[in-house]
Amino acid sequence: MKTKRETPIDINKQDFKKIGYELIDNIANLIDTIDDKQVTPGESPLKNQQVLGDHKLPTHGTSPEKLLSETTQLLFDHSLFNGHPKFLGYITSSAAPIGILADLLAAAINQNMGAQILSPIATEIEKQTVQWLAEFIGVSSGYGGLLVSGGNMANFTGFLAARTSKAPKSIKEEGLSSSEKLIVYCSKTTHTWVEKAAVLFGLGSKAVRWIPTNEDNKMDNSILIETIEKDLKNGYKPIMIVGTAGDVSTGVVDDLKGIAGICKKYDLWFHIDGAYGAPAAVIPELKALFEGIEHADSIALDPHKWLYSPLEAGCTLVKNPQHLIDTFSSHPEYYNFSKNEEGVATNFYEYGLQNSRGFRALKVWLALKQIGRKGYEQMILEDINLSKLFFDLAKKHPELEAITQNLSITTLRYVPTDLINEDFETTENYLNTLNEILLDELQIGGEVFLSNAIVQEKYCLRGCIVNFRTSENDIEEIITIIVREGKKTHHKLQNI
Ligand SMILES: Cc1ncc(COP(=O)(O)O)c(C=O)c1O
Repeated sequence: MKTKRETPIDINKQDFKKIGYELIDNIANLIDTIDDKQVTPGESPLKNQQVLGDHKLPTHGTSPEKLLSETTQLLFDHSLFNGHPKFLGYITSSAAPIGILADLLAAAINQNMGAQILSPIATEIEKQTVQWLAEFIGVSSGYGGLLVSGGNMANFTGFLAARTSKAPKSIKEEGLSSSEKLIVYCSKTTHTWVEKAAVLFGLGSKAVRWIPTNEDNKMDNSILIETIEKDLKNGYKPIMIVGTAGDVSTGVVDDLKGIAGICKKYDLWFHIDGAYGAPAAVIPELKALFEGIEHADSIALDPHKWLYSPLEAGCTLVKNPQHLIDTFSSHPEYYNFSKNEEGVATNFYEYGLQNSRGFRALKVWLALKQIGRKGYEQMILEDINLSKLFFDLAKKHPELEAITQNLSITTLRYVPTDLINEDFETTENYLNTLNEILLDELQIGGEVFLSNAIVQEKYCLRGCIVNFRTSENDIEEIITIIVREGKKTHHKLQNI
């Protein structure tokens, strides 16, 4: 009788070590030389389809050594590197090297984080990670929650907890049709997740009240109150207010303390979308900006943004974690997960949308241990200071207009000095077109990667620094690149 199966999937110890060491060597080289590379090759989808080739599903296998070496090269040659020091687009950080190794370790142990019995020590690590994240942003360690895939999921989880908590209890059995129209409030700058949540979770997109912003680009709390009053008069059922701690376009933090007071007065759930900005609450000088965060019923924050975790890692924190269990728990007969000699086990499937779950907490936990609060304070503050430098250099430059600077996000636009003096609208339309084309050119060019924001109807270039590799020198070079390419684009447009 055979004691060991021969399967096409296994790799023997010797080969595993050889291939593994080679892979680690290649990754170490990539990290070491990342700033010599282009941020992106800027290749089209068609080009990449050609590179990959239109092959059929393989009938027979290939040696893993050959596969890994070819695939490493393929990825190194045709990827956008958000770990590049000049990647300031959207909000995706450079990946902490320890996180890269942690993902390998997590995959090797391959815990199912849905139930504690299936992931004994890993569940404790996730619980500790969640507690540390609460401590990190300065809210009570009584907050509980879980790791999720990112900002959308973290916000959805809070949204669903709010819905269960504030909607009539009958909706669990009867559905939403049994209740009055539920309404949620947020600033007009809130990320698109809120509309997606309203659509997906049965409220409908019309249930979202997009509140205008004031002169500081924060949600206008007096219009917020007027809107709630009006909805109450019309027989609607307000359930939650979403405050933003670092909006996706310009990094503004809403008046969280003010919103907390309004939630209390009208008995509404207070959710904070801090997916990007919440980690900045660790900076002592920014405590006042985040005042009120400690009153949130739920908070979304993303380690894969400003805690430099590799994708994917988001987190939902809830002041009273029982709300998550009320929302997500179910007990099918075939689950034998709740028994535990010392008390109740923590089964994360009861805290969120996923059932089987990966061990994403490991990379966050290890980074928090490697870097510590002080290390994070240093890096986050440096990112903010680099963003201020970006703004100041743009302000000083005769061909750039600095528009906004909040947290680590700067917006600016290219404004040629030889603009023909036309009426305001014609000039603004031209500048919007010019900067939109310029952004496309910059993104494809591969020297720097920025994204865009529309601020007061101006099409802006937007740099968000959640990148521990970016230096002052990079910022100076980025200014030079923008101006050089801006000039070229302007001349092209003039000669059409
Ligand atoms: C404030 C905010 N909320 C939510 C999200 C969505 O996060 P994710 O892309 O991780 O789902 C983002 C993404 O940038 C964000 O900036």
